[in-house]
Amino acid sequence: MELPDARDHIAGIADVPDASRDVTRLADAIWPHAVRAAATLRLADHLADGAKDVKDLAARMGLDPDALGRLLAYLVSHGVFHRAAPGVYDLNPAARLLLDDHPARLRARLDQDGLAGRLDRAAAFLADAVRTGEPVYESAYGRPYYEDIADDPRLLAEFDGFAHWYTGRSVADVIEGYQWGRVGTVVDVGGGSGMLLTRLLQAYPRLRGVLIDLPSSAAKAEAAFDAAGLSGRCEAIGGSFFDPLPRGGDVYLLSGVLIDWDDQSATTILRRCAEAGGAHGRVLVAEQWEVDEAAFTDEDLRILVLVGGRVRTPEHLGTLAARAGLTVLTTRLNPRGVRLVELGPAPAA
Ligand SMILES: C[S@@+](CC[C@H](N)C(=O)[O-])C[C@H]1O[C@@H](n2cnc3c(N)ncnc32)[C@H](O)[C@@H]1O
Repeated sequence: MELPDARDHIAGIADVPDASRDVTRLADAIWPHAVRAAATLRLADHLADGAKDVKDLAARMGLDPDALGRLLAYLVSHGVFHRAAPGVYDLNPAARLLLDDHPARLRARLDQDGLAGRLDRAAAFLADAVRTGEPVYESAYGRPYYEDIADDPRLLAEFDGFAHWYTGRSVADVIEGYQWGRVGTVVDVGGGSGMLLTRLLQAYPRLRGVLIDLPSSAAKAEAAFDAAGLSGRCEAIGGSFFDPLPRGGDVYLLSGVLIDWDDQSATTILRRCAEAGGAHGRVLVAEQWEVDEAAFTDEDLRILVLVGGRVRTPEHLGTLAARAGLTVLTTRLNPRGVRLVELGPAPAA
């Protein structure tokens, strides 16, 4: 029996222009999963000490020898792993990229049991997200993303590591891209574990800070402020940014927060900041901004699948700001890719 192949369903594939072949290749389902299977099973690490017969390899890894041989044969035919002799496999340069300690960190990224790999699996439900506009992570794993990872210490540790890296990329742009010397108190709304606020207060010794986040994150931030000797100038409050925020801040910072939310929720968060900031407060929105459209749209679909959020252009953000009683004062794209949009109270109509 012939097995179904996407190519068979495109009429006259041999005669159609290259573009159709490209789309067929892009839509292939086996290749991405074969590479991910190799990464998830840590195949490369099991071959790191030399070539092995597939039966020995399967026994060592607790896998089915026949299926493993078929996976390796497929991967070899696509340029990943090397067949040293019949039934004997070894690393090649492409397979070395899948070693766990390779600096590219590709293996962890492709591991289907890891944070990013789970998101990749949820992307299989993208059509449903497009039907409803809702996130589909829950369709794949039975519960929403943040709930799912909160209950799994391994995923949570991976998330914390990712968040640390992600925020680390932004810190210098946020510190250098705004005139913090003029600010008395900054309220870091959804400030996470406090890394950004800590660095900001260390850079500006007269600045005072308040961090608002869900109670578990606020507790981590409080500990970070204590450890940095900042508790006299800084406090962490456990709460929700959908509830009224502490008043009297000069700047309400939203770093990497709005991207997680749909327009209605993002507008509510902006409104809470506007209410708390009053007539003189500013709201500073800091987000990594991908200038390249392919990167921008990739991130946009990922965040839709994951939590139903979205990547916004400055114009889109301006529209939400207006709904929240704010107006765009300045927009600045910083050297490491963080876009800072400063918002202030909209003039009375
Ligand atoms: C992507 S992280 C951004 C953290 C930090 N601002 C940064 O730049 O790294 C989003 C943060 O929003 C927090 N968060 C989610 N829902 C929240 C809510 N209802 N109220 C307050 N914080 C919330 C999360 O706990 C998380 O720390």
